[in-house]
Amino acid sequence: MPFDPDRPAPPDGMKHRTERGYIIAGPDDRGCCVIHEMWVDPDHRGGGEGRALVDHVRAWARERGLSPLVVQCSPRNEGGRAFYEALGMRAVATVYQDDLNRRAQPQPLPSAVARTGVAAAV
Ligand SMILES: CC(C)(COP(=O)(O)OP(=O)(O)OC[C@H]1O[C@@H](n2cnc3c(N)ncnc32)[C@H](O)[C@@H]1OP(=O)(O)O)[C@@H](O)C(=O)NCCC(=O)NCCS
Repeated sequence: MPFDPDRPAPPDGMKHRTERGYIIAGPDDRGCCVIHEMWVDPDHRGGGEGRALVDHVRAWARERGLSPLVVQCSPRNEGGRAFYEALGMRAVATVYQDDLNRRAQPQPLPSAVARTGVAAAV
C-alpha cells in the first residue's frame, strides 16, 4: 500500500498530519491502539519527526485507555524496525503466510516464517 498523506482517518480513529509527515491510528476490537500508517518526508527524516508523531498517538491512546500500542512492520523494512525499536517498542509477534499458489502475490514474504509484529505498552 503506497503512503498517501491525504488518506483519511478511520471512523473511530485519528490522523495527525504535519508539514513533514503524518500518522494514522485507531482502536481495534481488543482495546489496542493500532498504528495503521506513518510516514515522514525523506527530506526531514532523522530529525525527530517520527518520534513526535508516535508520541502524539501515545497521548491519544492513553486519553482513551487504549493499550498496548501495536504496529505491523515488514521484516524487509529494516529502517522501520530500527525506528520502532529506538522508540522502546519490542517485537512480539510472528506471522505465518501461505500464498495459496496465487501468482498475483507481487512481493511474497522472503520466508514462510516472517517476523513482523512490533508492540509496546503505552
Ligand atoms: C520510519 C520513519 C517514520 C522514521 O521517521 P524519522 O522522522 O526519521 O524518525 P526520528 O528522527 O524521529 O527517529 C527516532 C529514532 O529512530 C531512529 N531511526 C529512525 N530511522 C532509522 C533508521 N532508518 N535506521 C536506524 N534508526 C532509525 C533514530 O536514530 C532515532 O533514534 P534516537 O532517538 O535514539 O536517536 C521514516 O523513516 C519513514 O517515514 N519511513 C518510510 C515509511 C515507513 O517505513 N513507515 C513505517 C512503516 S510501518
